[in-house]
Amino acid sequence: MFFQVILVLLQVALAFTASPRAANDARSKYFVSSLPGMYLNLPKDDIPIMYSGQLELFPDNNTHYYFWKFVNPHPIPEAQRRTIFWLNGGPGCSSMDGALMEAGPFRINDDNQIVYNNGSWHKAGDIVFVDQPAGTGFSYSDEYEHELPEVTVHFLKFLEKYFEVFPEDRQNEIFLAGESYAGQYIPYIADGILRRNKNLKTGQSPYDLRGLLIGNGWISPNEQSLSYVQYALQAGFVSPSMPGWSRLLALQEQCQNVVNLVNTKDGSVSDYRVVSDVCDRVLNTLLEVARDRDAPSDQQCVNMYDYTLRDEFPSCGMNWPPDLVNVKPFLNNPGVQSQLNLVYKKPWLECSGRVGRNFIAKRSKPAVHLLPSLLEEVPILLFNGNRDIICNYIGTEAFIKELEWNGQRGWDNENVFDWHFDGNLAGYVRNSRNLTFVNVFNSSHMVPFDVPYTSRSLMDLMTGNFDIKDDKIITYKLGTRGQAKQSDGTPASTSASESSATSFSSGFSSASPQASATADEADKEGNTSHKIERAIQLLVIIVLLWGIYALYSSYKSRPSLIIKSGPTGKKKNVQWADQLRRFQEDDQVRVQPHGIFAKALNKFKGNLDGAYAPVEGRYEDIEMSSASPIDEFVVVSDDEDEETSRNEPSSNHK
Ligand SMILES: *[C@@H]1O[C@H](CO)[C@@H](O)[C@H](O)[C@H]1NC(C)=O
Ligand SMILES: *[C@@H]1O[C@H](CO)[C@@H](O)[C@H](O)[C@H]1NC(C)=O
Ligand SMILES: *[C@@H]1O[C@H](CO)[C@@H](O)[C@H](O)[C@H]1NC(C)=O
Repeated sequence: MFFQVILVLLQVALAFTASPRAANDARSKYFVSSLPGMYLNLPKDDIPIMYSGQLELFPDNNTHYYFWKFVNPHPIPEAQRRTIFWLNGGPGCSSMDGALMEAGPFRINDDNQIVYNNGSWHKAGDIVFVDQPAGTGFSYSDEYEHELPEVTVHFLKFLEKYFEVFPEDRQNEIFLAGESYAGQYIPYIADGILRRNKNLKTGQSPYDLRGLLIGNGWISPNEQSLSYVQYALQAGFVSPSMPGWSRLLALQEQCQNVVNLVNTKDGSVSDYRVVSDVCDRVLNTLLEVARDRDAPSDQQCVNMYDYTLRDEFPSCGMNWPPDLVNVKPFLNNPGVQSQLNLVYKKPWLECSGRVGRNFIAKRSKPAVHLLPSLLEEVPILLFNGNRDIICNYIGTEAFIKELEWNGQRGWDNENVFDWHFDGNLAGYVRNSRNLTFVNVFNSSHMVPFDVPYTSRSLMDLMTGNFDIKDDKIITYKLGTRGQAKQSDGTPASTSASESSATSFSSGFSSASPQASATADEADKEGNTSHKIERAIQLLVIIVLLWGIYALYSSYKSRPSLIIKSGPTGKKKNVQWADQLRRFQEDDQVRVQPHGIFAKALNKFKGNLDGAYAPVEGRYEDIEMSSASPIDEFVVVSDDEDEETSRNEPSSNHK
């Protein structure tokens, strides 16, 4: 009888360990199986495999980062082992902007359903949209983040947790992509990854960082602020005859003085502030000067994200893009939040004023100062939608001209390549010593919003998947470069995987040769892990057998032992229910001081209700200068926050 029982259990155990699902249990709880409109509006073949959820980073302060991952079920060869992490800016703006209005596979229609974006980047590599820093989008924590090194540490922790859930991605080529204020985050995070790779702890393997793509990046804020006047004159929405022009020029001069002071001749940085108050005022003043008081009220201000559009004053673009009107209710739909596996449901805001106001980065040097060392090890592509004002291309080109990297200052050649994509002029490209600049025509601050199909081809520019002909750079529709060459009569390789990467004379980055090497390695890795998996399965069976035998014999001798395990299980459930209640009661971004010490500290610093941890210097406001310190201690909803920000032109680098 005993051996029969064992036999049955053995079969069960075998069935269990042999199923691939069981091996990847961690992943399955993040799986997204359905969304409104998914089976209705999407071509069946284009439904991506999706994972979404809030990953716990630090239990101590309850920090969870939200991610949404999209995988192409039929990947083209060159995209197979790539993971792109996408970050929006702000600080405090959700990367759901990127997922649902830009590089992601969906758009939200007027019926609150998803429809397909045929320019989605998930066809150029797996893409993972991450809400960070904590408090942004669906991410949450008891504490705000304040400085860029903090963001770096937290993102590296996120990667660690992410690869625990998706170990199959660990060998992938990693690309960091994003927009606007992510021009600060991305270089910092990349720097953190490279430093980690050089100081691996036992059991860690390096991350294969292959490139950074930054769209309309806020990288050298003060230098970039100097570009507004020139850009506006060129675009023609201000002129020296306008009232307030001299005020604008005076401010411009003050900002120039700040820039001269910050970038001292020896290359050291004398002031580590990411944004100077003086330079930050230039844009708002410009928008005031350019205001057309005779226009209808919703047309009085130029849209700071696209100079060809207008918005009401003082929003000046805050109501844009129009898709927001559908995205916001979609993400706040409780059903959708459940489908996205949110453990902690919270109201979704495009940009959190609270996160922005707490993130001053006062002691962080602007990311531009990290570029020279990064460019020694990893290619960087900076692209700009040419209609954007707030992070315009003139500013980017200006700071590149002053930047010294890989042994020289500025570009080392005069080559400006026209970029043709799918037969159309898409922009122009410059490249030297691992740095590429792309001006993308007909697009705003959010390039993939305006030209999704073209924007995906930026990955081709990044990875060398292009041809150069008569001073033109040519990229092709997804996976068609080989065919295009053949029909051209030029010698071509037969499949996309074999097509070689192109290089500029100066060494435009080429990822392909290494890519296949990595794939081979990963295959080997795969075999090894397969063997290990088998060994573990065997071990599990042996332990199970032993356990059953032990149970059986203890049952025979002391049956009372088994009953005692009951109460422990129950207690666990109670703890969990407590946590759940706390989530429900808490305002999403309330700081919950942990332990007596934290409470005492809050009191000591004058925070009487103990709700918010005060931080030095946080009252200075880049996003909403009208907000008083008092706001920090009053519990208001983020919606009220958002209203505050509309009282005057704000400069939200989303
Ligand atoms: C993608 O969608 C746009 C807009 O709907 C359309 O103009 C374009 O032809 C589509 N491209 C492909 C390859 O389907
Ligand atoms: C460019 O980056 C690669 C790594 O992708 C590095 O090996 C190379 O040295 C860099 N080029 C220069 C000029 O530093
Ligand atoms: C896109 O930009 C190019 C170059 O500036 C211009 O010639 C073309 O008219 C633009 N197309 C549209 C649709 O605006």
